[in-house]
Amino acid sequence: MILIQFTGLSGSGKTTLAENVRHLLIENGYKAEIVDGDVYRKTVCKDLGFSKEDRCENVRRLFKIGKNFVEKNTIVLMSVINPYENLRNELRANDFVRTIFLDCSIDNLIERDPKGLYKKALLPDNDANKIKNFTGISDVFETPQNADLILKTDFETVSFSTNKLYQFIIDNLS
Ligand code: PPS
Ligand code: MG
Repeated sequence: MILIQFTGLSGSGKTTLAENVRHLLIENGYKAEIVDGDVYRKTVCKDLGFSKEDRCENVRRLFKIGKNFVEKNTIVLMSVINPYENLRNELRANDFVRTIFLDCSIDNLIERDPKGLYKKALLPDNDANKIKNFTGISDVFETPQNADLILKTDFETVSFSTNKLYQFIIDNLS
């Protein structure tokens, strides 16, 4: 089985790609589940914020959930920002884990900004609506050094990246 640990900034395409690939996998007879940071932060990870400690705890909890699915022969797409190299390496020490970096320039993300979060992160410090500790703007995103696959989501079309990831998963199934 396989667990895909995505890593990439907000808006880089994690949720979209996870949903598309899950759809394709299910169409082809595989069992697949998405473990999405944004979704689980409303339930199991409701108590967590965006400090380093909380982000690490968030990723660890999601990994535990993902591992349970893997044990039930289900392909897992773990769509989280996952910003720290040490923690990513800790997870990828498990033989069923593959690391996928969704690489997209910050300029492109600021321009796209589908959720309006970058706009809020870039507000002046004295503005009450400003989002603090925003990954890529005012908080760290460590560039992955050991990704198994890099998808350039600012150049590739969604369907190109989807097919590339789908094929990668099929080739790496065990
Ligand atoms: S992490 O760093 O791996 O724990 O992040 P994750 O659980 O994937 O949560 C990212 C989503 O939270 C929203 N959001 C923020 N992201 C980054 N930094 C800050 N400060 C922040 N505040 C809220 C945002 O909607 C992220 O969703 P995505 O899907 O990445 O856009
Ligand atoms: Mg998302």
